[in-house]
This record gives sequence, structure tokens and C-alpha cells, in this order.
Amino acid sequence: MKFFKKILLVVAGCILFACVEKETSLTTNDVKLNLIPQPNAIKTYAEKFVMDESTVIYYPESNQELKKQADVVNEVIFNQTGLKLPLESYDKIPQKGIIISPLEDNESLTTDESYKIEINTKKVLFLATTVKGLFYAIQTFRQLIPLENEKDTIKITCLEIDDKPRLPYRGMMLDPARHFLPAKDVKKYIDAIAMYKFNTLHLHLSDDQGWRVEIKKYPKLMELATVRKETDGDGVPHGGYYTQDELKDIVAYAKERFIEVIPELDVPGHSQAMLVAYPELTCFPDDFEVRTTPGVSKNLLCAGNDKVFEFYGNVYRELAPIFTAEKFHIGGDEAPLDHWKTCPKCQKRIKDNNLESPQHLMSYFFERISDTLAKHGKTPQIWYELDVPFYPETSTMYTWRGGLTPKTIEKSREMGYKLICSPGEHAYFDYPQAKGEETCDWMAYLPLEQVYKLDPGYGLPQEKQAHIIGVEATIWGEYVKDINRAFYMTFPRAMALSEAGWTQMDNRDWNDFKSRLKRNLQILERKDINFREPKELANDEFYLNNF
Ligand code: ACM
Ligand code: ZN
Repeated sequence: MKFFKKILLVVAGCILFACVEKETSLTTNDVKLNLIPQPNAIKTYAEKFVMDESTVIYYPESNQELKKQADVVNEVIFNQTGLKLPLESYDKIPQKGIIISPLEDNESLTTDESYKIEINTKKVLFLATTVKGLFYAIQTFRQLIPLENEKDTIKITCLEIDDKPRLPYRGMMLDPARHFLPAKDVKKYIDAIAMYKFNTLHLHLSDDQGWRVEIKKYPKLMELATVRKETDGDGVPHGGYYTQDELKDIVAYAKERFIEVIPELDVPGHSQAMLVAYPELTCFPDDFEVRTTPGVSKNLLCAGNDKVFEFYGNVYRELAPIFTAEKFHIGGDEAPLDHWKTCPKCQKRIKDNNLESPQHLMSYFFERISDTLAKHGKTPQIWYELDVPFYPETSTMYTWRGGLTPKTIEKSREMGYKLICSPGEHAYFDYPQAKGEETCDWMAYLPLEQVYKLDPGYGLPQEKQAHIIGVEATIWGEYVKDINRAFYMTFPRAMALSEAGWTQMDNRDWNDFKSRLKRNLQILERKDINFREPKELANDEFYLNNF
């Protein structure tokens, strides 16, 4: 920005600040709020803004985008208090009411997710440079409004919040491959995670146990790969898939809530369901069936068969315009090399390309898949496996295996990959939250406190963690049979994870987090979103002392 413009902004800022100071004199006071994720700068005052049914919500004139956000503010207030407020547009910033500022350059709002809220006795002012930032201001405001019913006036603490996220990627992963989740349920999930400032929904759309997306060129997928005859011997067929229209609808719905949907089609492993429809794409075709139990299949896509890349090229061609995100997850996890070691086509590929080992064939495979994706404008997201010698340069890696994250952070930095932190010991939300809640014998426990302990930078100096761009939790679906269960496994742990992604370590504290929890669980309850009551905190002084 030009120097002159900078000076103007500073002067304008000072005038604005002076006006606020003059019209209201506020008393600094340490008022307890219950915000999750904890904002990075807050100043609170003893005074209150009082709102009643005559309080107006203002938005800038002729700005339909911001009018829509004014509607969101109104809905939030109505849901929590029963008050329905009038909306008005303005051409000059009003002096009182609930005011959405115009989106303007502001030196102190440094990311597209930054926002400010200023509340004094006369007004609530939302400031952001993007609609997304404004949306996050509103999510914070939701938590500032008391949960009241049938009260004529609502009081809100006067304050200043100046906030922006620690990390730009904050994701949750759902697994409708293991148990299908209908589109309407996915939308409800999007609503819930948007409240906690998640900006990514990663959908794991294919696995050994099911293929869940409509591909028009390959109808046998829908016929044969989307249904399994039973699950763990229950004798009940299970199936389902999203039509392309449903996927478009999910993506659009998420976009309105500033969530990007990243699809995942797992290759070269976890592919048994699609191989039922197209067995010629594996090394040793057989009469496969869609897998009915958890576990890892040895039937990989054949790295020596060009038809594999042709097939995925056609799949990506259909999906690329539907999933508008540039990111596309290609799985890459748990791909045992047994068959590649004996398959004549794979062995020929190794020889023809002078590859050193079957592990190098894995790197080759990802290069080819990545090139195929790139033709459709997408970059690969991949689960990091440390025995794979290298990944495509443009990859974003996900660290996931328990115990290996420090090594993965180091290696991805050396190799120049961006990294998303999804370590098993902090972010695998299919794991039970407490003793007595086990669903199988191979999962560790993942209590709330253990999620909260995640520092995505693992305490490293800034220059050694600069490549870590985000956090993500996974809800693998083997034992997550419907959306209610997904919510139960998600909350409150996703609140803890949201803080790991959003809040600087200096502003985080487990005891303080516990004291902010109850109010947020009440908000979920009001919205009919399932969660696990943190029973282990029943007698915890911080959890109980939440107001
Ligand atoms: C994974 O948990 N297999 C990425
Ligand atoms: Zn092969």
C-alpha cells in the first residue's frame, strides 16, 4: 500500500477511535467470557450493551452479500434469545445498533479470516475485510449472546476483540465410505463445525468397504461398488452414494459457511470396492466383493497398468468442476507392496523406469496420479507414509500415524512439503473418549484433554514449523454408523481441536478451556446437535465454574 494511503488510514483510525472514546466511557474489567476457540486479543469492560426488540441490525446499503450476513446475525440472536430484530441498510455508519461495517482495507486486519468486534453501550460493530472474516466475527458473537428465553432485554458485555487464526487450514474429516452419511446429514455437520471456525470438510469418499460418488462414465461403480452385503457379520446390506447433483449442493452449502470441501478417493490402496466393478485395474484380478470388515486389503491398483491412470483421469474430469477446491486428496495410506513385488506389469514398470525399489514405484505412482490431477487444476493431498521415498512437489502431506509426527514434521520440512497435523494420538476422533466406550480392541483412548494438548507446531522454533499449515481431525467410519454418532465422537473434542488450529499457544490453557466448555455444549444442545457429556469433568472445579 502506498505510504500516503497508509497515513490516511492511520489518521482515520485515530478519529474513529477518538469518537468511540468520546461517546462512551468504559471501565476496563476482567469479565469472564465463554469463547471457543479463544480469540487472540480481548479487552473487556464492566458495562453492557442492552438489546431489545427495537435494536436495529444495520448493513451497508445495496450490499446483498452483507445483508445475508445481517440475516445470519438475526438468526443467531433469534435462536438464542427468541428476539427477532429489524434490519436496515445505511449509507453512513450509524451511531447505535448492531452494525456490519463495509468491507474495507484495514491495515490491522492481516488475513482474510481476521475480524474485530467492538461493543460499547450504544453499539456492536463488526469489522472485517472479507465476508469470511465477518462470518467468523458472527460466530464469536453467537457465543457472546446469553442463552435466554422469553426475556425482553438481553445484555452483552462491552469489549474489543481483535482476532485471527494461528493456522490457515482447520479441517474435520468424515468417512461416509465405511458408513454412508446422507447429504442432509453432511449439511448439518457443516453447520456445526462452521460455528467453531473450521474452514475445511474432508470427505473420505472411497475405501475397501464402499465407493460413494456417482461417476457417469463408469456406471458399474454405482451398481457394484456402493453396496456391501453386510458389516462385521450382521447380515444387513449397507450402501449408498452421492449423486453429482447432491455433491454440488453440499459444496455450495459449505461455501456459504466458508468451508471448502476436499474430496478423497484413496489410491492405490483402500480400493477394493471399486475393484469389484473394475477388477482389471488391480495386479491379480479376482472375483472380489466389497469388503465387509475393517482392515487393510492387499489388492492395490496396478502401478504397471496405464488404464489405472486413464480411469482416474476420467473420474477427476467429472469431479473437478464439482469440487471447486484446488485440493484433492488421493489417500496414499496403508498400501502393502506384496502384489506389486510379484506382478509382471509392476515389475516391468520398475525395470523400464530404472526404479530402485517397489517403494520407488509408489513414488512413481503418485507422480503419475498427480500429473493426472494437475490436468484438472488440482493439487494432491496425501497421508504421509515415511517409507515412500518422495512425493510430488506440489503435495500437501497429512501426518497421522501415532508416534511418528515429530519425524514426519522434520522430513516434510526437509522435502519441502506443506503439512497438516492430524496425529493419531491427538486427532483420531473415532477413538473412544473414555474407558467403557470402546468399540473394538485396536483403538487407543483419546480423551478431551489429550486433544487439547495438541500443539500443531510440536513446540518447535518458528522456522522449523513454518511449513505446518493446519490441523485436522478424522472420524473414521467403521464404527460410526450415523450422523448422531459422528456428532457424539466430534463434540466436544472438535472444540479442543479448533483451539489448536486457531489460538496461539500463549493464549491457550486447559483449565480455562474447561471453564468455557459448558456454555458451548448448551449452544449445541439448543441446536439439537449431539455431543458427549464430558462425564470425567463432572466434579472438575473449572468445568463447573463456567459463568
Ligand atoms: C489412515 O488412518 N489410514 C490415514
Ligand atoms: Zn501390478
